[in-house]
Amino acid sequence: MDGRAFCGNYQMCVVLLVLFSVYPLQCRGNWMWLGITSVGVPENLGCESLPFTNKQKDLCKRKPYLLPIIKDGARLGITECQAQFKHERWNCSTTKDLSVFGYELTSGTKETAFILAVMAAGLVHAVTRSCSAGDLTDCACDGGPQDPAPPGEGWQWGGCSDHVRHGTALSRRFLHHPVWNASSRGGRALHTVNLHNSEAGRQAVAMTMSTECRCHGVSGSCAVKTCWRAAAPFGRVGDFLKGRYEGAAQVRGRALRKRAGRDRLVYLRRSPDYCLEDRRLGAAGTRGRSCSRAGAGPGGCGPLCCGRGYNTHVVRSAERCDCQFVWCCHVRCRRCETVSDVHSCK
Ligand SMILES: *[C@@H]1O[C@H](CO)[C@@H](O)[C@H](O)[C@H]1NC(C)=O
Ligand SMILES: *[C@@H]1O[C@H](CO)[C@@H](O)[C@H](O)[C@H]1NC(C)=O
Repeated sequence: MDGRAFCGNYQMCVVLLVLFSVYPLQCRGNWMWLGITSVGVPENLGCESLPFTNKQKDLCKRKPYLLPIIKDGARLGITECQAQFKHERWNCSTTKDLSVFGYELTSGTKETAFILAVMAAGLVHAVTRSCSAGDLTDCACDGGPQDPAPPGEGWQWGGCSDHVRHGTALSRRFLHHPVWNASSRGGRALHTVNLHNSEAGRQAVAMTMSTECRCHGVSGSCAVKTCWRAAAPFGRVGDFLKGRYEGAAQVRGRALRKRAGRDRLVYLRRSPDYCLEDRRLGAAGTRGRSCSRAGAGPGGCGPLCCGRGYNTHVVRSAERCDCQFVWCCHVRCRRCETVSDVHSCK
């Protein structure tokens, strides 16, 4: 393999050659890697060297300016996944390799469903945002009529609606393919379920949009009333998908179409309890996770530590306090020490 053929600078070549010699065959590509790499501007790498499927490479070559947006989308999805699962036994931590989410990317569990949905939604959101910001020549904001109808008499669609349809189409086109070699584990059923969950993620962006309206006219006369559709902040999309994760339905490959509405998350296999470390699966377990003693919900020591109990450490921290302005001109503070208990799972 001639590294110079597709990577410009030396450091990057080393990174890529190591990556591709460690994961030569088992992966055909995982775009999500863009969300964890510290490589700044992926355009410099060239489409051929990125862990994309062939179709993704083609799209990348035709529209290389999409790469930073795709990277933003991947980051958005990963960050939101980690925020949503911060206090849960499985906390959506990422690996350093191309599997990105390790075992959970292909396990066919509810967690796989959430990952695929939030990543597809992240891509929709990132593209939509760029359209509205005028960063792309392919799209702008959407000036046309929207669905559902305007909220009342005399209101008209106008101004700049977020172009979620464009974002959705691009996410669909880019993620046409399973992120992972479908025949390696789970086969066709997993492939079908993955595509369904990615689509459910895209729908979540459309379903969390809201209608915003404004009056125009001399001193608030409200002679012209315009409304537009705005995409929710991505955290709201994450909340929505977390709810779908909690209500996810187990399906068998065949039953998928009948059982699942378009925006429902589905899974094939029940999740492990994520209590103990399992190196084979790359599961971290919850030992050492900090927990709250009071809570019985997620993040509480009881459920998070799986009944193993917890250790308590006393943590002292110092901060500035009782600050006063002293003429002239500085601020004098005392140093206050706070002592708090920190609990972590045994
Ligand atoms: C998830 O928990 C593990 C410990 O079980 C910890 O090492 C890791 O940093 C956590 N990841 C995130 C994203 O919070
Ligand atoms: C998927 O992986 C299997 C082995 O795990 C391999 O035989 C097959 O060729 C791969 N398929 C593709 C399309 O790369």
